[in-house]
Amino acid sequence: MTSPSKILDRVLVLEMVRVTEAAAIAASSLVGRGDEKAADAAAVAAMREAFDTLYMDGTVVIGEGERDEAPMLYIGEKVGGAPGKGPKIDIALDPLEGTTITAKAGPNALAVLAAAEEGCLLNAPDVYMEKIAIGPGYPEGTIDLARSPTENVKALAEAKGVKPEEIIACVLDRPRHEKIIAELRSIGCGIHLIPDGDVAGVIATTDPDTTIDIYMGTGGAPEGVLACAALRCVGGQFQGRLLFRNDDERGRAKKWGIDDLDRIYTLDDLASGDCIFAATGVTDGSLLEGVKRVRGKMTTESVVMRASSGTVRWVKGEHRID
Ligand code: FBP
Repeated sequence: MTSPSKILDRVLVLEMVRVTEAAAIAASSLVGRGDEKAADAAAVAAMREAFDTLYMDGTVVIGEGERDEAPMLYIGEKVGGAPGKGPKIDIALDPLEGTTITAKAGPNALAVLAAAEEGCLLNAPDVYMEKIAIGPGYPEGTIDLARSPTENVKALAEAKGVKPEEIIACVLDRPRHEKIIAELRSIGCGIHLIPDGDVAGVIATTDPDTTIDIYMGTGGAPEGVLACAALRCVGGQFQGRLLFRNDDERGRAKKWGIDDLDRIYTLDDLASGDCIFAATGVTDGSLLEGVKRVRGKMTTESVVMRASSGTVRWVKGEHRID
């Protein structure tokens, strides 16, 4: 078990839910309105404001982009109501994970954040990451990014005591995944294609009710770190490798102190020590229900987890509409 962090003790873990709730509520008024940017901007502004109610000296290590790209919640921005006084906390955030989903009223859009002691979350550049993940309960080393999809599915099937064709893989529906999809289908594996939202896709492997056994494919590196914070709390295995499309992206990685560009990262490389993961549903999904407006109230569903205790709290909120 991870030893509990005194620093995180001093931040009310449950308070993190207020932050994701605020972002989800703000984005919810733009669900299905076809405007990704407006939905994201609403979530960002609400999350920024909610952070200031927390007694902490926070620093955004994964955020909306670099300082010159994002007006708020940029990497390096200080958040929290006690700068210089409160506990020093690193924050990885995505106020709206699934901007397109939100614009189209699709499933699994989330407001999400991870918090940890300074230096415990990889400062991942905003590039792609090749990912593989499974839920808890399997022997360490069951999955390996260096192996083929077929080898990984066979190893997982053996560990689960089922045939490879009984394994269900979650994959982002993208042309770049044509090869993986064809290979998985050739061995009879079931594929759950998702339009967006691979934080929820990775976490789905930890919940037997989703029937998803393994996540595979390439998505955002920041989303990889956020998903790892959740897996650190509920268990599971993850490996990721950054993918660079050009010299600008390689330069970004160097800037954040990443020298080995081919490194395969494990769960603990991406999120170490004690950490908190919090999320609120914006639209209904495999992890959480979305924000609903019912009889003059708004309802939210959130989850907050902590690595050191393994405690997972599901929080239903009712909010007055002013
Ligand atoms: P946004 O919320 O930034 O739109 O991200 C959604 C998402 O689907 C992530 O979950 C995923 O990691 C990434 O985009 C995949 O990137 P791309 O859409 O370029 O394939």
